[in-house]
Formats: sequence, C-alpha cells, structure tokens
Amino acid sequence: MKKLLVLSTVVIGAVIFSNCNPGKKVTDGADAPVAAKSTYFGNLSAVIEANCTPCHIPGKGGRKKAYDNYANVKTDINEMIKRMELNPTDRGFMPFKGTAKLPDSTINAFKKWRDDGLLEK
Ligand code: HEC
Repeated sequence: MKKLLVLSTVVIGAVIFSNCNPGKKVTDGADAPVAAKSTYFGNLSAVIEANCTPCHIPGKGGRKKAYDNYANVKTDINEMIKRMELNPTDRGFMPFKGTAKLPDSTINAFKKWRDDGLLEK
C-alpha cells in the first residue's frame, strides 16, 4: 500500500511538472527568431543546380554561362530573374526551351537572395 502511495505521488508529480513546460510560455514576439538571410552557398546554389542544369553547370556538361559560381550569379542575378519571369514563348525565356515557367516559390528564392544582399555564405 505504501509502495502504491509513493508510486502515485511520483506519477502525479510528473504530470504536474510536465504541464510547467517552459515551451508553452507565451511570447510577445520580441524574441521571435529573425528570418534567416539567404546565402549563395546555403540556399541558392542548390536551386540553380536543380533548375538550370545541365546548361549552366559546367561540371554537368553545360556550355552556357556558368552559374555554379558565386561571382557570375551575383553579376547576372537581375538578368536571371528577368528571364525566368518571361513567358515561355518569349525570346530569352529560361529555363531554355522549358514549356512552363518555374513556380513562383522557385523564382522567389532568387529574389530573396538578391534582396537579402547577395550574400556568399
Ligand atoms: C536547356 C538548357 C538551359 C537551361 C536548363 C537553362 N538555360 Fe539559360 N541559357 C541557355 C542558352 C542556350 C543560353 C544562350 C541563349 C540566350 O541567351 O538566350 C542561355 C543564356 C542564359 C542567360 C544569359 C547569359 C549571358 O550570357 O548573358 C541567363 C541569364 C540564363 N540563361 C539564365 C538561366 C537560368 C536562371 C536558368 C535556370 C532557372 C537557366 N538559364 C536554365 C540554356 C539553358
């Protein structure tokens, strides 16, 4: 009987303490994390690898302007965005000979990187 009493005390205690989880604390937003800035190596290079390959990735046999490096992408970012935003039937549309525009979320990754300040890493 005494054992049962001790056990139930422990169980009840555990339940009470788990409700005091500090993660449930109400925040006023002041300490909310600031959205991370986009960087070439952290965010953009993988998007380029996935969407502008193989033509702009020399390592994959691409013979067009190389976009697997920070310097070229930094210089051409506005032109890259402009071309992705063209209609697929327009001259200069990228990805070249693509039948559809890339999704906004993909194009936005390029824009966010530009707007965050063209960071390398
Ligand atoms: C299927 C091959 C192919 C793919 C994929 C492709 N491109 Fe291109 N790209 C080309 C060709 C061919 C040219 C040269 C003709 C022209 O300028 O329109 C070019 C040229 C460009 C230029 C002009 C470069 C210069 O020399 O000034 C930009 C900017 C560009 N592409 C951006 C992109 C972006 C951004 C992507 C990925 C979203 C992409 N391309 C995907 C084939 C491709």
